[in-house]
Amino acid sequence: MRDSSNKPLQPVPSTPRFEHHPDGFGIGNSRPRLSWSFFYPADADLKSVGSWTQRAYDIEIKAEDAAGSGTHHIESSESALVPWPGADLISKEAVIIRVRGYGQEKDDITQWSSWASAEAGLFERERWSALPIASSKKFEAEDVTLRPLRFRKEFTVPLERDILKARLYITAFGVYEAHINGSRVGDHVLAPGWTSYHHRLAYQIFDVTAMVKKGQNSIGAEVGEGWYGGLIGIRGGQRFNYGKELALLAQLEITLDNGEVMVKHTDHSWQCHTSAITNSEIYNGETYDMREEQYGWEMPGFDSTAWASVKELPFTSASMIASDMAPTRVTEEVKPVSITITPSGKTIFDFGQNVVGFVRIKRLPPHSKVSLVHAEVLVDQEMGMRPLRNAKCTDTAITADNELLHWCPKFTYHGFRYMQVNGWPEGTTPSLEDFTALVTHTDMKRRGWFKCSNDLVNKLHANIVWGMRGNFVSVPTDCPQRDERLGWTGDIQVFGPAANFLYDTNGILGNWLADFSAEQLARDDKIPPLICPDVMSSWWTPTPQAIWHDATILVPYNLYQASGDIFLLRRQYVSMTSWLDTAIRRGSDRLWDPTLWQLGDWVDPAAPPSQPGLGRTDGVLVADAYLVYVTGILADVSALLGEAHDARRYAADKEKLKAAFAHRYITPAGNLANYTQAAIALAVQFDLYPTAAQRDNAAVALMRLVKTAQYHVSTGFAGTPAILPALTRTGQPWLAYRMLMEKHCPSWLYPLTMGATTIWERWDALMPDGSLNPGQMLSFNHYALGSVAAWLHETVGGLVSSDGWRTIDVRPVPGGGLTWAETRFDGPFGVVEAKWRVEGSRFKLELQVPPNSRAIIVLPMQKKELGEKKKIKVASGWHAFDVEFEPDEWPPTGSINKYSGPLSKACDCF
Ligand code: BGC
Repeated sequence: MRDSSNKPLQPVPSTPRFEHHPDGFGIGNSRPRLSWSFFYPADADLKSVGSWTQRAYDIEIKAEDAAGSGTHHIESSESALVPWPGADLISKEAVIIRVRGYGQEKDDITQWSSWASAEAGLFERERWSALPIASSKKFEAEDVTLRPLRFRKEFTVPLERDILKARLYITAFGVYEAHINGSRVGDHVLAPGWTSYHHRLAYQIFDVTAMVKKGQNSIGAEVGEGWYGGLIGIRGGQRFNYGKELALLAQLEITLDNGEVMVKHTDHSWQCHTSAITNSEIYNGETYDMREEQYGWEMPGFDSTAWASVKELPFTSASMIASDMAPTRVTEEVKPVSITITPSGKTIFDFGQNVVGFVRIKRLPPHSKVSLVHAEVLVDQEMGMRPLRNAKCTDTAITADNELLHWCPKFTYHGFRYMQVNGWPEGTTPSLEDFTALVTHTDMKRRGWFKCSNDLVNKLHANIVWGMRGNFVSVPTDCPQRDERLGWTGDIQVFGPAANFLYDTNGILGNWLADFSAEQLARDDKIPPLICPDVMSSWWTPTPQAIWHDATILVPYNLYQASGDIFLLRRQYVSMTSWLDTAIRRGSDRLWDPTLWQLGDWVDPAAPPSQPGLGRTDGVLVADAYLVYVTGILADVSALLGEAHDARRYAADKEKLKAAFAHRYITPAGNLANYTQAAIALAVQFDLYPTAAQRDNAAVALMRLVKTAQYHVSTGFAGTPAILPALTRTGQPWLAYRMLMEKHCPSWLYPLTMGATTIWERWDALMPDGSLNPGQMLSFNHYALGSVAAWLHETVGGLVSSDGWRTIDVRPVPGGGLTWAETRFDGPFGVVEAKWRVEGSRFKLELQVPPNSRAIIVLPMQKKELGEKKKIKVASGWHAFDVEFEPDEWPPTGSINKYSGPLSKACDCF
């Protein structure tokens, strides 16, 4: 396509981005890296745009300090995370920037991007004049939940002055919601979020220029215990993990037209009072008592004579962080779909979707007390509370002489599909209109989409997306409902590749990794926490654990593959090397000490309900397989970072470990000591078979295992991400598809037949007869087994990248009777899209490769050509392929390959 002057159509640069920051407001770094991608105008005919590659770029900077302004011309094809070209930013400095790119032709210069703005946070500790303030009075007995507090302060802005700008820098020891002159500041929920508060405390920056006025003003904030002082942990958890006093740290800076900057910060001159929220806990829920409300406390002129004084606390010793992480906020509203009266007479609302967040009540009449109890499932038509363990998940609102409008809790959240309403005022019945679920999670940008011709597979994918949303709440958690909701390291390690495709996880995972390494490196033995932030090690003696602690290497590495962020690898490098060099406990052959307990292939469906770690695959074998793999990855990371000595050392170690693994576990014929789906899938995926003959033997063994399992899944956390890729890799994608399409328990689709709307922790959390699994691990919203999404994106959809999407590997493997699949990824270089369809004996692919990137395509051909596939390299632009294709027999029968196992059950996937 050419423009009016007959030149090839040029792409337009996107608005540049600062680091991974969602909006550039409050960056924590004086030399923020910049990223942009290129796109074509909406009316362009994408099929004819041709290829475009950047040769150079200009960045124009306008800084507050004119000396920092200027245009920088850089000869480089890079457009993702390029170095800051200007002078160092200083604290609070605001800049705007724009970019344009140069193509390969001499006069090929794109138009300028839109301006992007950024403002720096407070880089130095000295910039904080505020001190944390806590109540000088103790309001509750020792060792019980801390009642939320309100802090306030009034101040005057001279009437004769205009306000040029106002910024609020704010955080809490607890979770807060701030107000200025009666209006809520921002829309963050559970701010400042959960970090490893002893090491790192995040603060937020708000532009409050429009909220501050001339004359009398008031600033206030309500602080709940959140993760800071609340009951958090496993086995019931413990209180006061970080401290016993709720505190607020706030600094309001108002720039006046005479250049004066008024600073109003938390100090002894503030006042404090208990909140009308009488109780608020993450696990148990919140109680609001309108009878204790002090109307107008957030407004100027409020009579606060009865309020208590505050005391100043020492400034935190943790680093103050302006992080790249998007805030937690309400992202969607969901209305209930039905009301049921249960056999015991309770009123239950069904929201039709297992969501995470809380419920807003439209109106409560005076003198009522209503409680909302939340649960994920119904058992015998009543609320299924057992999976929640000790978490009460109950919010209560008590009204006084007035009605209460649009009430919802502030400092708690729940995972639920069902809500039981207790105490609804007599004489009326609650209706669907009375309640709205507010879906709440870290507001990451959506990046990846997948759909195909099978509705059940699409529903599975949708459930995985819902599960991810509900479990990314400030940290990547295991579950959102019971008394855990913790940053279990193994869970995000296995789900990472799927997560990084679905959403922009750089902010949240980058932040989480900084906590993870801080906690690990603070220990002499360099054993990382098993959950991060760590609220376990006060009572648990850390022992090294494969898979979970391998997150030190694999979470940053997978994130690097998705983002190309090499600095992240550099930042995490000591954590990675310390894990392998110091923390792992090894046997004489340098594999794992075989006497150590390993969580291994956790929640293998064959493990007893009460012992999810006692699966059929040896935990030490699984740990050893991972050890060989992560050692090889660390060799690659070292090479990427230019650490040549380490690269050689780890590469050599990997070979020795691989040989030791073969010695420990693989017979010369290629039989693995553990004859299980998980063990063999991991050995295939991690390339642990020394010879091709042994690999062939493994392929046959996998086939036998999958067939003798009658296509049921036989894997847990470790084996699940590997089983379908291993079947594909061994040239048996039809078996992978057949497993994917299985609907009997245990399988990916079985929960769908039971009405699941998220991914379950266990394959059989709800048993086929509708009863609950008798075990303890009974979350109905756990993302780990949703790791299969990576196979959907990479193998069914055919999109994968290992260098931050500069090079896109396109290798769809059709099967399973699917007639089409469409996969889209809006990544660092722009939108990549692959759409394929099978028409008779033709396979047709349409591929969109964004400007400044390239693709390497491997097309599915006739079966006889398997293993001999041609690689087609293409530049950016639109590409179409139409090739002869012989679909695999579907559904597969014994005749599809030499082995014919017991196929006693007919395939019923259609
Ligand atoms: C969590 C898991 C976690 C496991 C490890 C469970 O309680 O919910 O997802 O990985 O413990 O022990």
